[in-house]
Amino acid sequence: MAGEIVLGALAPHPPHLVYAENPEQNEAFAEGGWETLRWGYQRLARKLKNLDYDVMVVFTPHWQTYIGTHFLGLPHFKSKSVDPVFPNLFRFNYDLTVDVELAEAMHDEAAAAGIITKMMKNPDFRVDYGTIVSCHLLNPTWDKPIVTISSNRNTHYYSAEVMNEQSAALGRACRKAIEESGKKVVLVSSHSLSHRHFTTEAPLPEDMSREHIYNHSNYVWDMKLIEMMREGKMKEVVDILPEYTEQTIAETDAGAFTWMMSALGYPEYPAEIYGYQSVIGTGNLVASWDPNEQTRELVL
Ligand SMILES: [Fe+2]
Repeated sequence: MAGEIVLGALAPHPPHLVYAENPEQNEAFAEGGWETLRWGYQRLARKLKNLDYDVMVVFTPHWQTYIGTHFLGLPHFKSKSVDPVFPNLFRFNYDLTVDVELAEAMHDEAAAAGIITKMMKNPDFRVDYGTIVSCHLLNPTWDKPIVTISSNRNTHYYSAEVMNEQSAALGRACRKAIEESGKKVVLVSSHSLSHRHFTTEAPLPEDMSREHIYNHSNYVWDMKLIEMMREGKMKEVVDILPEYTEQTIAETDAGAFTWMMSALGYPEYPAEIYGYQSVIGTGNLVASWDPNEQTRELVL
């Protein structure tokens, strides 16, 4: 049977969200915070529990590679992930499994399309916190294998336009590999929307009286994008991403969103919106794209 993409999820990765949940894997303790995003994530996690899928493929901005696109290439990774900016919030003991077969299939298909690629086979490699935060919040039981794809830094080495082209090509290659694999796959695009952030932290990080969007123009841009997502205008969204990325210093610079939309074939159906909230001033949206009309929902 042909493989397929059964869902695409936009899954932001502020470590604050895992911190606020107090899972046993994290060493820090919080009194809560950022409930709009966390409750939205919990709702999406319940949808995923009822979805038949084999593996989660996550594209992360925090595994940055300057020569080509890399894929996790060993079946098991276990270590402690410490956020370099927020070690006070995130010291997470992870133990995860990788679908190496699918990773290699995507690697080979991308290479055949002329994209520079590499398999990560260092057993001591530390998996980035973007992967861990997004995967933990979408599937807190970690009972499915994952594949992580690195972010080749085209935006910074060349431009946001080059990144858009390169990550769209990567999305097409990954889709082909998934279809040939016979597997049911959830794609995860791990990042915030607008990404201007405060440079100081409240004495109590989860003090919600201190949390708000960094500025109004970032808010207006984010709302415009979400409106287009509701209207199913994903090709148009991807077309304006270079300007959006520049205007709001958005984390779409990593290429993940373009990769996911290209793999999904630029949906013309409405996105499922689960929640929008700022974290240290950045704009964060939890959303998904369900290709199956029978299970697609109007959430918010
Ligand atoms: Fe990030």
